[in-house]
Amino acid sequence: MAKLENLDKIVNLSKTRGFVFQGSEIYGGMGNTWDYGPIGVELKNNIKKAWWKRFVQESDNSFGVDAAILMNSRVWEASGHTASFSDPKMDCKNCKTRHRADNLIEEYNKKHDIEMPVDSMSKEEMYNYIVEHQIKCPNCGKCDFTEIKNFNLMFSTKRGVTDDNQDVIYLRPETAQGEFVNFLNVQRTTRAKVPFGIAQIGKAFRNEITPGNFIFRTIEFEQMEHQFFCKPEDSEKFYNEYKQKAWDFAVSVGLNPEHIRFKDHDKLAHYAKAACDIQYLFPMGWSELNGIHNRSTWDLSRHQEFSGKSMQYLDPITNEKYIPNVVEYSIGCDRLVLAVLCEAYDEETLEDGETRIVMHFAPHIAPYKVAILPLQKNLSEKAKEIYKQIQKRFMATYDDAGSIGKRYRRQDEIGTPYCVTIDFDTLENGTVTVRDRDTMKQDTIKIEELANYLQQKLDA
Ligand code: GAP
Repeated sequence: MAKLENLDKIVNLSKTRGFVFQGSEIYGGMGNTWDYGPIGVELKNNIKKAWWKRFVQESDNSFGVDAAILMNSRVWEASGHTASFSDPKMDCKNCKTRHRADNLIEEYNKKHDIEMPVDSMSKEEMYNYIVEHQIKCPNCGKCDFTEIKNFNLMFSTKRGVTDDNQDVIYLRPETAQGEFVNFLNVQRTTRAKVPFGIAQIGKAFRNEITPGNFIFRTIEFEQMEHQFFCKPEDSEKFYNEYKQKAWDFAVSVGLNPEHIRFKDHDKLAHYAKAACDIQYLFPMGWSELNGIHNRSTWDLSRHQEFSGKSMQYLDPITNEKYIPNVVEYSIGCDRLVLAVLCEAYDEETLEDGETRIVMHFAPHIAPYKVAILPLQKNLSEKAKEIYKQIQKRFMATYDDAGSIGKRYRRQDEIGTPYCVTIDFDTLENGTVTVRDRDTMKQDTIKIEELANYLQQKLDA
């Protein structure tokens, strides 16, 4: 990866090449919403597919669900979100901007090399720390804040067919509750035995006080979450196992192990036995990529208490009845897309002195696997015939506009691992040239061997 000082180059490339656009752009945008374009949606789908393959398809004991975004409001009472899913907000009295007190302190500490856990501080301690250190408003530079208040992050809406009889409901702030409430449905229908897991990929919504850093923190995002249900006495073993699995997955989508690290939580929720994040070295510094959490029996116990329905598992061998422990692995898909974009980005100086931007995506997550490029327009009939064949097996693109050099550059910028050039030898000898994105070396291949050649390369 090229050293990126900030996200500007990634945001710019995303816009020009079609990875990610500003949401509702023609109306001046809608703060912190983003739309994935034709290249971005392929990249994101490939990342989701890779996650699902690893955590559902290749797992002997994990099953997927796709639960509703809108859930019974009692779910959020049971989960604790209604009462305490909040961030400490304060307003600048001078410029009226809103800030997260913990973020202001973290930024200040980072700048001054102060190692201090912020998540264990009370509201009063945070306020006093800000005043004592004269921490300034990032917008106007004054230190004149209101006192800190808790701000609930759930988006609420109303459900009802008459104006005067409407219930408040919430857009889910995490997908996890859909897995918990379906624990017994999944167990019964799959006849799964504990330990087993439930996975889900889906949208979540949070009214973040300080969204930002492109797709890092947004108000609408996608999570990939996996809950593993096990005996309480086995939870430490599975917690460590999922830490390793989360690490391996991050590396498998192309993140350099030197750019990721574990970070234990300084303060544990009262029910949690252990919790850590994997952080990635984003251009703005080490920041959370995903979390792994040993959540004890808390989630299922709470749903049992609030729903009045038993959430106990009956062990068919020992006849023991118990509420399983949950080990959770949760990763934001958009945040992972951002990490993958940062990791893949490179600027190389070529022999002729020109610079090329190239996205070194791992081939299995690259948006297009192959581009078909006729050297000249009068070769397009043959090129299209090959394109039609190839697109049956691979996500492929076709480009006949501009010089071949420019077309290679375009493919490099969207990370296409292989470019297939159709030239006059194709008509005479039935061969094509395959160019490798990373080495820029070219191989001559017979048309009938092309698909297998590409498959072997992509599998490797
Ligand atoms: N069920 C547990 C849970 O939701 P979390 O740490 O709040 O835990 C899990 O969120 C992951 O979701 C984070 O590690 C991050 O990758 C992603 N995430 C959380 N808030 C986000 C936001 N506002 N924008 C983008 N991704 C977010």
